Amino acid sequence: MSKLSRKATVLNAKVVELLQKQVEMEAHASATYLAMSSWCDAHGFTKSAAFFLEHSSEERGHMLKIFHFLNENGVRAFSPEVKNIQQEYKGLRDVYEKTLEHEIAVTDAINAIVKLARKEDDFASENFLQWFVEEQLEEERLVRDILAMFEFVNEKESIFALKLIDERIPLEN
Ligand code: FEO
Repeated sequence: MSKLSRKATVLNAKVVELLQKQVEMEAHASATYLAMSSWCDAHGFTKSAAFFLEHSSEERGHMLKIFHFLNENGVRAFSPEVKNIQQEYKGLRDVYEKTLEHEIAVTDAINAIVKLARKEDDFASENFLQWFVEEQLEEERLVRDILAMFEFVNEKESIFALKLIDERIPLEN
């Protein structure tokens, strides 16, 4: 790290680059969950629609957490561009399967930043990211628990069975 950039921030430049990308990934997750909420609403899955609305807000919260961390530590955070949001889904199971895939991708991305922060002796970022490590554990567990309910539904997935699952979707508020 050059002396000049060390004067502006204690954060490592390579780690900062990944944190900027993570801002984008969290914004993409927020927009994706909003699309899922709308899909669920249009197909009569009201609890799932509320679940994804809550999670869209949570993802925006994650994005802002990183955004503020960068700005508070002498780095100018960029407002992310959000593109390529999937609007259509094959069914309710598909929505939750895509959610798990998405959360696993986020976990991998967070772990990669932690690994780099450790390698570059960026202890501030490593410490900051511990919250995200915990959060991802929780989020993956939550979606896996929801997907487990689909194991009791046969191939045809009657609307009655799907509505029963929808009624059991956990909401925070
Ligand atoms: Fe913030 Fe669930 O990724």
